[in-house]
Amino acid sequence: MAKSEWYKNMSVYQIWPRSFCDGNGDGIGDLWGVLDKLDYIKSLNVDAIWFSPLFPSPNADYGYDISDYMDIHPDYGNLQVFRQVLDGAHARGMKVFMDLVVNHTSDEHKWFIEGRKDKNSPYHDYYYWRNGRTTRSGRRLPPNNWSSVFEGGAWEYDASLDEYYLHVFAKKQPDLNMANPRVREEVKNILRFWLDLGVDGFREDVITFIAKDEGLPSSYPPLPVANGYRHYANRPKAHEYLKEFKREVLDFYDCFTVGESPMTTPDVALRYIDEGGDKVLDEMIAFSHMEADCFMLDMLQLPFNLVKMKRAFSEWQTKLQGRAWNALYIENHDHPRIISRYGSEEYRTESGKMLAAMYILQRGTPFIYQGQEIGMLNTNLTELGMYKDVMAQNNIEVATRFMPRSTAMKLLARSSRDNARTPFQWTDGKNAGFSEGTPWFFVNENYKEINAAQQEDDPNSLLNFYRAILKFKKETPVAVWGDYKEYFPKDKNFRFLQLREQLRHHERLYLAAV
Ligand code: GLC
Ligand code: CA
Repeated sequence: MAKSEWYKNMSVYQIWPRSFCDGNGDGIGDLWGVLDKLDYIKSLNVDAIWFSPLFPSPNADYGYDISDYMDIHPDYGNLQVFRQVLDGAHARGMKVFMDLVVNHTSDEHKWFIEGRKDKNSPYHDYYYWRNGRTTRSGRRLPPNNWSSVFEGGAWEYDASLDEYYLHVFAKKQPDLNMANPRVREEVKNILRFWLDLGVDGFREDVITFIAKDEGLPSSYPPLPVANGYRHYANRPKAHEYLKEFKREVLDFYDCFTVGESPMTTPDVALRYIDEGGDKVLDEMIAFSHMEADCFMLDMLQLPFNLVKMKRAFSEWQTKLQGRAWNALYIENHDHPRIISRYGSEEYRTESGKMLAAMYILQRGTPFIYQGQEIGMLNTNLTELGMYKDVMAQNNIEVATRFMPRSTAMKLLARSSRDNARTPFQWTDGKNAGFSEGTPWFFVNENYKEINAAQQEDDPNSLLNFYRAILKFKKETPVAVWGDYKEYFPKDKNFRFLQLREQLRHHERLYLAAV
């Protein structure tokens, strides 16, 4: 039986649960809050909800460090209320997708705790535990030169075992050893658990990182951030593991999968999603269009470059045309707010509508991130202590190697993921209607002007534009199935102009700093 392709004509609303809606007044968003807002979500004309991790987690990376894959974090509720949300979504014709985070667990997951106690435990080999290297002078070095994305080196030493464990992200996020068949069995059990409960698919976190090159070789020349990625991003085994998950589990359910794929080109993405090839995922989450005002990382900011953005979109659209389906997005929990980046805070409604139309009408499945539909903007964090994101500290440490702290703090304020994680602005009332208690994170000061209630009855609001365009997309075959064509030929001077812009930008940064 050919798998049905309902995902090609759907749009998805992403919920980052901690900041969506607090139903029990403890200041933290939860599933009771979601239950209360299901009609609102449905009113946007979306077809599905993707939940950022709802599982028990010590929150070193706000849910992306999981300590139990088969339960709900008590902050968010329990399995009963999750079932209510699931039923409520289904009753309204909406699917529900979970976040599958299996590149790493929390260091508080029982597998890690057990494996750390004893080298002979079967759980020891669930992770990458390795001996260190020693220099000729007897100095101890980690097993290789990789750096982590979030916190310094990629290895953490454990004195009781006299071994290091690998963490490509934070120290509290040890990488799972997917080469171990037992780990893959665990992943299959997790998939089955949620599918049997009735969920309709998964967004798969950094899924292109799950296979590491054998022997974990050092990487040269070393990069200041994410050094080593060429030995863990898109390695051939990643496809093999995904194929196994598909063959043994996913193929038995009518479910959807979208893989997050940092640093992946459309050509590489096609290895996973080509319908005429060895397809193991339905869609891939691209990154290049989110780099039109920065270099690779949000922190390395540049002026917005329209041509760069257009090129990125065009490349994915044209390369995937007729072969695979795109995931379309301009915001999620990992990026600052789009109007503050690619639009204009002054003309927020106008630029918000322009950005919405620009991406939703491309070929693919649109994803809308909570608050995007009402034009929420970046917040203003002035001191390091105000940030919640584990990345902030690391970004400042790296940045201050190259620039004065004051400049680094400015760059951080504009680029931090925390910009997207402030509580949802429902009303102009207390705490923006997010919570009766004290919100876990600052509410953006602009909530009196920007909130859902105020836009509800205004036919020209951004909120109502999102509703209209998502309806239009759904009902207009050409907006779903039409081909993408670029009307303006590529600018031959592009590289030169880009370089000139970059040099000017750095000159400005330098002058501002001295
Ligand atoms: C993904 C998530 C991000 C998380 C990281 C590590 O990029 O989207 O929020 O911090 O993976 O799990
Ligand atoms: Ca709560």
